[in-house]
Amino acid sequence: MIQKPRGTRDFLPDEMERRRHYEGVLRHIARTFGFREIATPIFEETELFVLRSGPNILNELYAFKDKGDRDIALRPEMTAPAIRMFVNGMSNEPKPIKIFYFGQCFRYERPQSGRYREFFQFGAELIGNKNPESDAEIIALAASMIEALGLREYRIRIGHIGVLRQKLADAGVPKERTAEVLQKLDKKLYDEAEPILMDMGVSDLARQEIFDLTETVGGKDVLSEVPGEAGEYLRSVAEILERMGVRDIDIDLGVVRGLDYYTGMVFEAEAPALGAEKQICGGGSYTLSELFGGEQVFSTGFAIGFDRILLAMEKEGTQYELRGIDAYVVPTSDIVRGEAYSVVSMLREAGISSDIDLMGRKMAKAMKHASAVRAGNVIIVGEKELSEDSVTVRNMSSGEQTLVKISDIVRFLS
Ligand code: HAM
Repeated sequence: MIQKPRGTRDFLPDEMERRRHYEGVLRHIARTFGFREIATPIFEETELFVLRSGPNILNELYAFKDKGDRDIALRPEMTAPAIRMFVNGMSNEPKPIKIFYFGQCFRYERPQSGRYREFFQFGAELIGNKNPESDAEIIALAASMIEALGLREYRIRIGHIGVLRQKLADAGVPKERTAEVLQKLDKKLYDEAEPILMDMGVSDLARQEIFDLTETVGGKDVLSEVPGEAGEYLRSVAEILERMGVRDIDIDLGVVRGLDYYTGMVFEAEAPALGAEKQICGGGSYTLSELFGGEQVFSTGFAIGFDRILLAMEKEGTQYELRGIDAYVVPTSDIVRGEAYSVVSMLREAGISSDIDLMGRKMAKAMKHASAVRAGNVIIVGEKELSEDSVTVRNMSSGEQTLVKISDIVRFLS
């Protein structure tokens, strides 16, 4: 038997119905914030991701040569594609441009619970601005989405990568080796960061200060420990968020992010229920457009790990009630089968989701099948009823049976 590739999943109809429902919730929230949906290709020129995504992502890239000898990669994330699209054809539109997207991404990772090689992101980008208002808008959107899904236990941590980058530069870390250090600090691998920093000639004191900075965590008050403009900036972001009703946030200068393109505010959301792979959302402010041939434009955005957040909701016991179909039509014999087809067509035309027995089942088995497909009603088409231009409608939750004129069924079911 051929199996699906490692790290991928099939979604059966029940799961797919649940996923589509929650996708719809996220789309709705994005639109209420004035964001509009885009779609970009699932594969791009590899260079798009090589330019700035950082070493973590590059090691995980699904990259190959196509038949025309071009270097192609499956997208590992959707920010670089969105900004490429902006540079290609949207750069003259009024700013800020507010876009969102939903789709699959691919990373060659070691699969485990909540970590897949094919996974789905729901993300948003606000292009054309660098100020606390834009960053607050993006964090507020992420928070509203998580709330709307109904996740109960989560934390949003907000930091500023500029502070850490500055600290590394001041300590003598060369620009081209910053990503390497940040990668270790992102995972709090101090033991591994230490020899790298020593190799660069960073003093004991400076090293300790760098590590201490990544441990600066707390409420708004810790911002007094954050030096210079960055502290001011984050204070403004936190104040706007408070006004917008987003209160459950922590300041955490240890938020480093795995991707290389961030320049200022960075944030992550975690769901503790998930254990090791608990990061359900990540984002921040960045510039990428100048790398793709456009002018430098500041942007801010985030992506929610759709699979992870659904997993977290499941772990919290959130139930999704499957909807099933409105009606299941059962002819009592082959003689009335033709009439039954007319009835089911009429219902479908009226937008009532309906199915009809295609297996020639006897009544008892047909009723069982109707339950299995979660039909709200069973419509029994029998000779006796037809002689009165009627059918019997059985409400599957109450068990009540009603004789209904065929011309009245649509009204009756609506
Ligand atoms: P990221 O943190 O790499 O950021 O990914 C965003 C989210 O995708 C993560 O927080 C996580 O929930 C989910 N995720 C990542 N890898 C996997 C995986 N292998 N399996 C399941 N879920 C995963 C970005 O991708 C940025 N583009 C976010 C962004 C948008 N920044 C600015 N704008």
